[in-house]
Amino acid sequence: MKSPRFASDLLNWYRQNGRTLPWRVPGVTPYAVWVSEIMLQQTRVETVIPYYEKWMQLFPNVFALACASEQEVLRAWEGLGYYSRARNLHKAAKIVVSEYKGVLPRDLDALLALPGVGRYTAGAIASIAFGIDLPILDGNVKRVYARLFDLTEPVNSREGEQILWEIAASNLPAGRAGEYNQALMDLGAMICIPRKPRCSICPLARVCKAYRNGTQELRPVKEKKREVPHYFHVAAVIVRNGKVLLAQRPSSGLLGGMWEFPKGRVDGDPVRAATKALKTEYRLRLRVKRFISQNEIGVFHHAYTHFKVTVHAVEYDLVAMPRGKNLKWIPLEDLGKYPMGRVDRLIAQRIVQRVHT
Ligand code: ADE
Repeated sequence: MKSPRFASDLLNWYRQNGRTLPWRVPGVTPYAVWVSEIMLQQTRVETVIPYYEKWMQLFPNVFALACASEQEVLRAWEGLGYYSRARNLHKAAKIVVSEYKGVLPRDLDALLALPGVGRYTAGAIASIAFGIDLPILDGNVKRVYARLFDLTEPVNSREGEQILWEIAASNLPAGRAGEYNQALMDLGAMICIPRKPRCSICPLARVCKAYRNGTQELRPVKEKKREVPHYFHVAAVIVRNGKVLLAQRPSSGLLGGMWEFPKGRVDGDPVRAATKALKTEYRLRLRVKRFISQNEIGVFHHAYTHFKVTVHAVEYDLVAMPRGKNLKWIPLEDLGKYPMGRVDRLIAQRIVQRVHT
């Protein structure tokens, strides 16, 4: 599917209206493009900018990253989420140093073989850093194409993806893929936005099929996602002699290699379970007013991609210490050095605050 002349209209618009971003400054290295694209995979530009800038100071090149410890890498990524991106980037940096003398390969297959680099990221790096004619497709770009071509196929279905990749490849202007891909991203971020797209100032309105059909707010069509389960956890806060007991998570999987308060899953909301038990035992019908228990540090909620979680942080006394587990006593003043997910960081901050008040 090809639409006449829209690439040149888009490029003209981009040259005047494209965003100035830290990874778009002249002289930016392929490594910097790579870092930015990994950070931007699941995260918004505004969130990424300060992380990117800090990262480039800590690890200005692939050698610095390859030499860093996983702990330092995860700590620098903390707050961006999807931590396997950081672990993969770190692994890939080591590969680039050991197999390519620190020079990011220009070859598509070699890029795709690096941990964390899929079709989208390889296309972005190849086109932006090396000027190779390859398409990209992310959420923003899918939305733009779904509207330009008024696609009724869900963009998150296999067929939809296939159609979109074909559109992306066939509309690529020769020799301009890097600029064109970034122009699509900017159009998606600034004009062809998810709700109330700004069609009146869109440089592509003239060729946009959804605009012509008045369906722009109905595109992209998405297959409904399944409802995610909701889990309840109790996090144990065990403090002794100014140290707190933390556990390190297994090196792969969710929050891999990061530190947390030891947690147990409970069957449903513990407060609701207690309320129910009180009703059964005493026929008391109660509603929670506020959390007043002295040992309750707080209740935290977080949504991951595949589930939601409510964590009740509870203070415990340790009776016996097991051996051979990934547990470590950490001085309260060192908690900042240990990478943690959002909920655990909040619990850690609350404990430290409590000590100082
Ligand atoms: N989203 C993904 N990659 C991007 C880039 N290079 N510039 C702006 N937004 C992006």
